[in-house]
Amino acid sequence: MLDAALLSIDGLSVAYDGSSALNGVSLQIRKGELICVVGANGAGKTSLIRSISGIVRSSSGTVKMNGVNITGLPPWEICERGIAQVAEGRQSFGSLSVEENLLLGGSLKRAKAYQFETLEFVYQLFERLRERRRQLAGTLSGGEQQMLAIGRAIMSKPEMVMFDEPSIGLSPALTDVMFGVVKSLHEQGITVLLVEQNVAKSLALSNRGYVLENGSIVLHGSSQELLNNSEIQRAYLGM
Ligand SMILES: Nc1ncnc2c1ncn2[C@@H]1O[C@H](COP(=O)(O)OP(=O)(O)O)[C@@H](O)[C@H]1O
Ligand SMILES: [Mg+2]
Repeated sequence: MLDAALLSIDGLSVAYDGSSALNGVSLQIRKGELICVVGANGAGKTSLIRSISGIVRSSSGTVKMNGVNITGLPPWEICERGIAQVAEGRQSFGSLSVEENLLLGGSLKRAKAYQFETLEFVYQLFERLRERRRQLAGTLSGGEQQMLAIGRAIMSKPEMVMFDEPSIGLSPALTDVMFGVVKSLHEQGITVLLVEQNVAKSLALSNRGYVLENGSIVLHGSSQELLNNSEIQRAYLGM
């Protein structure tokens, strides 16, 4: 499995000012998989994503993409290699228009030639963004900002997208829309790493899952196994 992994993480640790947030996390994602990492608030989910994307520097461990060590590369280089992230809190450029934000997402070398074709794809996915393409990103609603963040990631023509709690702060109806978009991107061949507190919904969507507690993976398995696990049911599913 290691050889076939698109992304292989081994012993990854992250600490902030000496206080540990991620302790020796190992996980693998095969090309075309949709996997989830679930865990409570503060478990280390965002730290995991940010250390893969190069925004946060790990204190030990390695991240390999297709067998090549990419640990410690700068964020733009990680994007250029085809790993995009949809950040928690969305983080668009508020004083730029929706379309300017999208085109920025598509300005990478790997994506530039497809920029306008991909823009049309994003607008077909989210008609709402097409309607608001001239509106400043900072004035969008929470749901619209989440659409824009996903759109920007798609614009970079990624091989893999990491979603950091795409459902946070959204209504149940919009949550279903976002999970539907994650599913349809996966069906189009994009490898997905979904990080969520919404354990039931993300296990229902994914093939495999990892459970993160206090910076460590405490369980992993097929999503069905995890949904049937009595500890998971008690701790995360309120059963
Ligand atoms: N920039 C930071 N500086 C200091 N501590 C941080 C920082 N980011 C996260 N932490 C701490 O690291 C731990 C894991 O946080 P985080 O990765 O954001 O978890 P999650 O995304 O699962 O809620 C928490 O204890 C959090 O307070
Ligand atoms: Mg987080």
